[in-house]
Amino acid sequence: DKSGYKHFMAKEIAEQPSVLADALRAYLDGDTIRLGADIDFARIERLTMVACGTAYYACLTAKYWFETLAGLPVEADIASEFRYREPPLTPGTAALFVSQSGETADTLAALRYCKGRADRVLSVVNVAESSIARESDVALPIHAGVEIGVASTKAFTCQLNVLLLLALKAAVDRGRMTEAELAATLGELRGLPGVINAALDRDETVAMAARAIAEARDVLFLGRGLMYPLALEGALKLKEISYVHAEAYASGELKHGPIALIDKTVPVVVMAPRDRLFDKTVSNMQEVMARGGRVLLITDAAGAAEAGGDVWRTIVLPEVAPVLTPILYALPAQLLAYHAAVAKGTDVDQPRNLAKSVTVE
Ligand code: F6R
Repeated sequence: DKSGYKHFMAKEIAEQPSVLADALRAYLDGDTIRLGADIDFARIERLTMVACGTAYYACLTAKYWFETLAGLPVEADIASEFRYREPPLTPGTAALFVSQSGETADTLAALRYCKGRADRVLSVVNVAESSIARESDVALPIHAGVEIGVASTKAFTCQLNVLLLLALKAAVDRGRMTEAELAATLGELRGLPGVINAALDRDETVAMAARAIAEARDVLFLGRGLMYPLALEGALKLKEISYVHAEAYASGELKHGPIALIDKTVPVVVMAPRDRLFDKTVSNMQEVMARGGRVLLITDAAGAAEAGGDVWRTIVLPEVAPVLTPILYALPAQLLAYHAAVAKGTDVDQPRNLAKSVTVE
């Protein structure tokens, strides 16, 4: 039942504030993170994260969180590569698998490879009765509710939510964050569903930009730091439902090749809150604009003010703590793809050639 929405994807995008709030209620007891199992990150020396598609981009985002907040080294890999490379797992390694369906064949095979080789097998899943959940030592549910649209939306932000809680717990366990700092961050996280509601209000600005994007043949997405995995997710979402060719690059890679693609026909979506890397991104943006590229900047008010006037379009989001930006910036990435697909008249919920659950490799 689409509850009055035109597509399941639109409904699932709109549900994000409430499902994120549900998940926080499930995992937080006051300012204590309760995982329902004893995981002591002080005893974990290295984390190997494995997934496919959007779930892999959640892992890439979490790598930044675990490494920066908790000083925990993380390897994030695509399941189909990991499983056949047969990587050695050194003692002290925990393996963490992320999957909405819990049935993705490559992710499940990678999990089975890690059993008996990793100290602990953890998973972050939406379907609690799935194979991946059953075969893990600890399965952490994301509480997104049933996701019907083939393009993952609320499952992605709910995966990020649980992975951030894990990274915060790791930061405390490993003595990198005080209880007071944790409480402050959790306070901001509790406010995020309300902030996302405000971001959803900017839907019409995004829809206008999306209608222009829908006309392009190729689109580039750029981001640095935490916004790099988000750029990858934005490009994946756009290509899978609107069939517009999109690629993402880490902003710093631009001049190592992709800048050759830039001309006035190529819109460049730049995801960049006003953070410590913003100035570097502005200079990448200027390189794009100097070659006639049209920049769609997704930023906050401070970023919009500093970006200068040559930007083609700007989507201004509320300001949030830097650590929370991936969850918030997922929204415009999803909406851009959604409205581009609607403008093109594609089958939003059932894009061609794709299945919701990929149980064969
Ligand atoms: C993209 C998408 C896919 C899945 C991938 C993994 O919108 O939905 O890339 O993320 O097939 O699926 P799960 O999470 O079920 O393992």
